Amino acid sequence: MRSILLLNAKGGCGKTTVATNIAAYYALKGKKVVLADFDPQGSCMAWLEARPADRPRIRGLAAWHNTVRVPKNTEYLIIDSPAAIGGRPLAKLVQRADSILIPVLPSPIDIRAAEHFIGKLNALRRVLNTEVKLATMANRVRENTLAAEDLDDYLEMIKLPSGKKVPYLAMLRASQNYIRAAEEGLSIFEFAPARTLLDRECWTRVFRWLDSQRSLPALQS
Ligand SMILES: Nc1ncnc2c1ncn2[C@@H]1O[C@H](COP(=O)(O)OP(=O)(O)OP(=O)(O)O)[C@@H](O)[C@H]1O
Ligand SMILES: [Mg+2]
Repeated sequence: MRSILLLNAKGGCGKTTVATNIAAYYALKGKKVVLADFDPQGSCMAWLEARPADRPRIRGLAAWHNTVRVPKNTEYLIIDSPAAIGGRPLAKLVQRADSILIPVLPSPIDIRAAEHFIGKLNALRRVLNTEVKLATMANRVRENTLAAEDLDDYLEMIKLPSGKKVPYLAMLRASQNYIRAAEEGLSIFEFAPARTLLDRECWTRVFRWLDSQRSLPALQS
């Protein structure tokens, strides 16, 4: 089973948006997908409730208040986490994951918060001695803005304590398609390709990474 964790202590950076889109992407490919919602706001569970019955099924787990029992035949476990996460809850989620995706918004405040959070995460990974793989993605980007350039520069240069570069996978556009998809329990991959072409293109490297050994802990590769 692949487990993919969406993480960033900063609120509103796109954790739920990325989690639901990844869940639907693999469900569309016929995979058995479970979406574990660790956020008491229950955004993923609300998204699943809105999801039309004729769409590829994704199982939801209201993980913030129930013990998580992942069904045995699960192929993809997508984990959505709450904002302001830290301490033991953070350590527990990190231990569950093969791969961690960190979305960051283009703003000075979000960049500073990401810097702080990635530092904390690296310290935690050392303590936990976990090989979980990290990658970043820019989200809600308006092209050709200064804020987008600053975020691009920052994400390009993030390194692990070992000096190895943290993969920077994507720059997701600010797009109404994500907002509409969120309302309807859908993903951008379920809208007409012509309408979402530019958005879909942004995801190519995300799925290439997730589908490669590079996103898996060394022990499993
Ligand atoms: N690329 C995008 N383009 C347009 N809107 C977006 C995009 N990504 C996210 N949004 C919108 O931004 C808002 C915040 O996104 P989301 O809920 O995914 O963030 P979050 O990190 O899960 O927030 P929280 O920390 O509160 O759980 C939502 O209304 C979402 O629809
Ligand atoms: Mg959320």
